[in-house]
Amino acid sequence: MEKQELKHFSDMELRTFGRRHGKKLSNRKTYLIENLLPNIAPKPDECHEKPIILEIGFGNGEHLCDLSKNNPESIIIGAEPFMNGVAALLSAITNESDNVLFDEYKNIRVFADDVRLLLKNQDFKGIKFTQIWILHPDPWPKAKHEKRRLLNHEFLNLLSQFLPDDGKIIIGTDHWEYYDWIIDQLKQTKLKIKSTSLDIIKTRYQLKNKAGTSEPKYLILSK
Ligand SMILES: C[S@@+](CC[C@H](N)C(=O)[O-])C[C@H]1O[C@@H](n2cnc3c(N)ncnc32)[C@H](O)[C@@H]1O
Repeated sequence: MEKQELKHFSDMELRTFGRRHGKKLSNRKTYLIENLLPNIAPKPDECHEKPIILEIGFGNGEHLCDLSKNNPESIIIGAEPFMNGVAALLSAITNESDNVLFDEYKNIRVFADDVRLLLKNQDFKGIKFTQIWILHPDPWPKAKHEKRRLLNHEFLNLLSQFLPDDGKIIIGTDHWEYYDWIIDQLKQTKLKIKSTSLDIIKTRYQLKNKAGTSEPKYLILSK
């Protein structure tokens, strides 16, 4: 099953994430994946009606929830192929007693797959994201895995196409070598660094701080 699911990535592009499935999901999470997830998929039509914010690789969704609460007028689309992370988000945004979405999270939409499939879907052609967030992208620290890094110049150029003139791409990583690598990739794009300072909630991955650095570094980019 795993092999079949990954096949469409190898046909298209290199896989940029670690895995799609972790430990077995609880009955509640399985229910939410089967019953809630299809109902909160991104809908192309509404993407032209309201401001849209995209978070790529939301992990367990702490920051996505924060975005949702702080931007009630926007649609918040989260893309994440790791199903245990998706299930953790669905569990956090629903009432445990009846599995119904909390009102404050009704603006969340979830694409439970590689974000590149969403961005290359013709139905979403022409939409603009006011903000695109990527917090702690998988650093792929070994030299032989560098080609799996998501934030290469091709992907950054793809993101640019979805950015309005006043839109922002916000990147955070505690892996400083990846940070410098991204800055180098920017030379092959038209994106500009607007700021490097940001004060946001700590995500699960940030708290793990696998890179062992003293703090995350940020890049706020615009066209
Ligand atoms: C290191 S984790 C960080 C998760 C979260 N942002 C945090 O800070 O806790 C990177 C996440 O990016 C996701 N990811 C990697 N490649 C992706 C892609 N092409 N599309 C969407 N998500 C992706 C992975 O599945 C993983 O959950």
